[in-house]
Amino acid sequence: MNSQARKISKIIEPRFVREGAGVKLKRSFPISELDYADPFLLFDHFGSDNPDDYLAGFPMHPHRGIETVTYVLDGVVTHKDSIGNAGSIGAGDVQWMTSGRGIMHEEMPKPHNGKMEGFQLWVNLPAKLKMTSPRYQEIPSERIPEANSKDGIKIRVIAGTVGDVRGPVTEIAADPIYLDVSVPPDGSFTHPIESGHTVIAYVFEGEGLFGSMTEDQAKNVSHSKLIVFDDGDLVEVRATSQPVRFLLCAGKPLHEPIARYGPFVMNTQEEIQQALEDLRNGTFV
Ligand code: CO
Repeated sequence: MNSQARKISKIIEPRFVREGAGVKLKRSFPISELDYADPFLLFDHFGSDNPDDYLAGFPMHPHRGIETVTYVLDGVVTHKDSIGNAGSIGAGDVQWMTSGRGIMHEEMPKPHNGKMEGFQLWVNLPAKLKMTSPRYQEIPSERIPEANSKDGIKIRVIAGTVGDVRGPVTEIAADPIYLDVSVPPDGSFTHPIESGHTVIAYVFEGEGLFGSMTEDQAKNVSHSKLIVFDDGDLVEVRATSQPVRFLLCAGKPLHEPIARYGPFVMNTQEEIQQALEDLRNGTFV
């Protein structure tokens, strides 16, 4: 059977929002045009040259029913949580946090040489794992392998595999792929992704052609934008006269009902009420 390149389903222009104690960030979803991309529930791009946009940070707050993935490009995010972790994640580091039944944590962005930039992705947990024990994987930059091709493509493999390079984040229910891909001018990138899985790409530097090259369905997409792909079994990207850098994320959709309220994402309203009640009663963590 021939492989089928995924076409673009949607191109999302991120929206400025304020979160936490007033951090200004670019949100690709949930916004009016896109509520979620099952199993992904939220995608934020944070960072600014003005520390006033982020120094207030995200003071202690709860999560239940999801996983949050923080990837820092520049600057530092110091954090601590209710299961005893504390530390900081810096340039190139990843924190993959499984809230399960409940975690309280604090995330405070700080500049390094005046810069701060990163991403947060929320991945849904299936109903059977929403009340699992909270867990936390912190991956320092040096443990994230790179898959480099001879034509100059550089891929940091955070989750999933590229050729025989395997990302360090494992045992995640959504069977995710999370890659940071840099393609030089005129380079082309192809990556197989199981059909039926959801694929999104977030272009954050340069611009390039995304979509099916063979069927002439590719569109030029420049930073910063989020692309949602149709089904197929591979993703194709071609850089033109300038380089392009993007995150490529894929995961297995859950096809379960979603009830969300701020930092809680469950299957029913009753479960949301329960989370709020647990928080009030002091039985959340
Ligand atoms: Co949080």
